[in-house]
Amino acid sequence: MRYDNRTRYNNIAKEMKKLGELSLLGEKGWIVNMNEKEQAVREMLKKHGQEQLLACYTKMDKNKQEKLLDEILTIDFPQIEKLYGKSIQKEVISSASIEPISYIEKDKIEQEEKQKLLETGEKLIKEGKYAVVTMAGGQGTRLGHNGPKGTYDLGLESHKSIFEILCDTLKEAQRQYGVYVPWYIMTSRQNHTETVDFFEKHSYFGYPKQDVFFFMQGELPVVNEKGKILLNTEGLVNQAADGHGGIFVSMRKNGVIYDMKARGIQWAFIGGVDNVLAKMVDPILVGLCMEKKVLAGGKSVVKACPEERVGVFCRRNGRPSVVEYTEISKEMSEEREENGELKYGESHILCNIFHIDAIEEISKDKLPYHSAHKKIEYMDSQGNIVKPTEPNAYKYEAFLFDAFESLEDMAIMRVKREEEFAPVKNATGVDSPETARKLYKAFHGME
Ligand code: UD1
Repeated sequence: MRYDNRTRYNNIAKEMKKLGELSLLGEKGWIVNMNEKEQAVREMLKKHGQEQLLACYTKMDKNKQEKLLDEILTIDFPQIEKLYGKSIQKEVISSASIEPISYIEKDKIEQEEKQKLLETGEKLIKEGKYAVVTMAGGQGTRLGHNGPKGTYDLGLESHKSIFEILCDTLKEAQRQYGVYVPWYIMTSRQNHTETVDFFEKHSYFGYPKQDVFFFMQGELPVVNEKGKILLNTEGLVNQAADGHGGIFVSMRKNGVIYDMKARGIQWAFIGGVDNVLAKMVDPILVGLCMEKKVLAGGKSVVKACPEERVGVFCRRNGRPSVVEYTEISKEMSEEREENGELKYGESHILCNIFHIDAIEEISKDKLPYHSAHKKIEYMDSQGNIVKPTEPNAYKYEAFLFDAFESLEDMAIMRVKREEEFAPVKNATGVDSPETARKLYKAFHGME
């Protein structure tokens, strides 16, 4: 243990040295004891104007003190400073570099061509070269569910959870193609244990346990409006999940890419946890990507109206991309083609597939972070817990679809909303359990 800790700090110290944080290197090259660690941390906090992180330090017990120091040692302060700098100057999307992207409508593919795509995709799946990754690290705050979103009971007669509903599609694929598609589930620190326990409790819904893998996504500290990193309600560093764009790095760090390669996986679906009609194993999309010789593919549905809270596929500086609903301007969202369709109307439904080579390449670098202004509970420097009623802090998230821009091209396939998109996002109204349940039942002929 001791050795591991030393190695770890030595590595951190080396990393910090690269970043110009020389003070972290103790006399012997690594930090060996609490005093040294505390001194190094204090120096570093002073340098970056983040001394508030130790405001409650003296009131903590030794274990907690060490935990806090450890957490601080892993913070990349220059990165946080850069991110904060960007979040205070609002991101403006210039429409000049953005244009619509071409797509193929699944229903309009000629029968003969469709058959060919189907056979190509099916062959790959049957050979065990396809995997599914579900991003289930989000907190589901909007849904108001107390627990991982995938554990939510959709309210069907069967009382199936979202995880079980997704698992059903994998079981169906097994019946069709004769293979158990490996299922990788990305969790976050907050919901990891609860997620794994849920699968255990439900015996993995009858899916082979050896084909289900859990891995955790990364986190980043949250900062207040003055750029100061906040403490959480326990007095430790206030960290939040770093968005699903962190998935590629997490897949590498957690050995997922290694595992996929060892299993001979060539293509992987990467999708959100909240679409109960997600068609996670679709040979036609796989066939289409292979035929087009591209390293990624995504599904779209027609955007219902300019205000719909979905990202839309586009080309940005010539590369495939998504303009997120939080970033699109009103004018751009309302622009129409001559046929009346929205110019930016191919909704991104977070159902994308990637070739393993693309996953590996993208995992080598971090994707850019976007900032979100949120209400975040914290401990102030007097040790009081503050529950803000207005947004008070910035959290930083990377978006998976920013990875598209590293690709020359990708295949976009427009599918039918009523067949493939039933998101569960809000407690009531649009994209709620009620609307998703209705769509799910209609698709499965349950009413
Ligand atoms: C998302 C897409 C949007 C798309 C819409 C379709 C983003 C940023 N936007 O919007 O382009 O049109 O879905 O439904 O994704 N997640 C993690 N870790 C995180 C954050 C999210 O695993 O740190 C997972 C969530 O569990 C969820 C999915 O990613 O499964 C989507 O995240 P969410 O933040 O709910 O995105 P939306 O705003 O709904």
